[in-house]
Amino acid sequence: MDDAVSRETPPAPEVATGVFSSALPKAEQFADFLATAGTERGLIGPREVPRLWDRHLLNCAVLTDLVPEGASVCDIGSGAGLPGLVLAIRRPELRVTLVEPLLRRTTFLDEAVRRLELSNVEVVRARAEALHGSRVFDVVTSRAVAPLKKLLAWSMPLVRPGGQLLAMKGSSAADELAEAGATLHRLGGVGPEVVHIGSDQLSVPTTVVRVEGGEPPPLGLTPRRGPGSGRSRRQRKPR
Ligand SMILES: C[S@@+](CC[C@H](N)C(=O)[O-])C[C@H]1O[C@@H](n2cnc3c(N)ncnc32)[C@H](O)[C@@H]1O
Repeated sequence: MDDAVSRETPPAPEVATGVFSSALPKAEQFADFLATAGTERGLIGPREVPRLWDRHLLNCAVLTDLVPEGASVCDIGSGAGLPGLVLAIRRPELRVTLVEPLLRRTTFLDEAVRRLELSNVEVVRARAEALHGSRVFDVVTSRAVAPLKKLLAWSMPLVRPGGQLLAMKGSSAADELAEAGATLHRLGGVGPEVVHIGSDQLSVPTTVVRVEGGEPPPLGLTPRRGPGSGRSRRQRKPR
């Protein structure tokens, strides 16, 4: 009985009207699709349903505050469409590419795009690394996909120079960023910072790691590993 009640799509809270404005009906449709098909197909846990709005939809929606108008956006590891589909709903002028390797999830995403009649979304079944060298975007987003170092390696090659990576992170954001210095340098990321957004609308603001895309340094200029790393190569003497 309790279980049945918890699976009911919760009504949009008042704050959602301000956040989504004219896109609210589509956000409500998406909430309903997540609460029904999303839980039935195991894409989100039933316990997430009562907190769909505050923990998921609103929390993702405020990320658009950092996205420039008309940007191309790549959301890697989209899962059930978080944050990518929410960005596309709140900002119909964005061009959003959802990159997700698992068929069960891309099937769900394709179906959501059709039902919500979103003409600004492309679903790509792939790992992010498979797009390296062939696609770049103004903005690359992600939520709950991987530890920051790994995420940077997957995401930065997809960020055009001058574009940005926006990784939604929890309380570990600053520590993860502090540990990722060498990785960032190697990938040419500049101006890394931790940003908190949505504090006017949300009880818990969204924490985001933001990095600007630059030109990766030429291979010969990457910092040398220290002695004892086991990776140094002896120069051969010319004969
Ligand atoms: C924990 S889920 C998070 C899903 C969604 N972003 C969310 O916040 O609900 C992580 C997702 O990342 C995807 N993933 C894992 N490795 C990936 C990679 N190399 N490239 C793209 N997606 C990846 C998984 O298939 C999974 O759907």
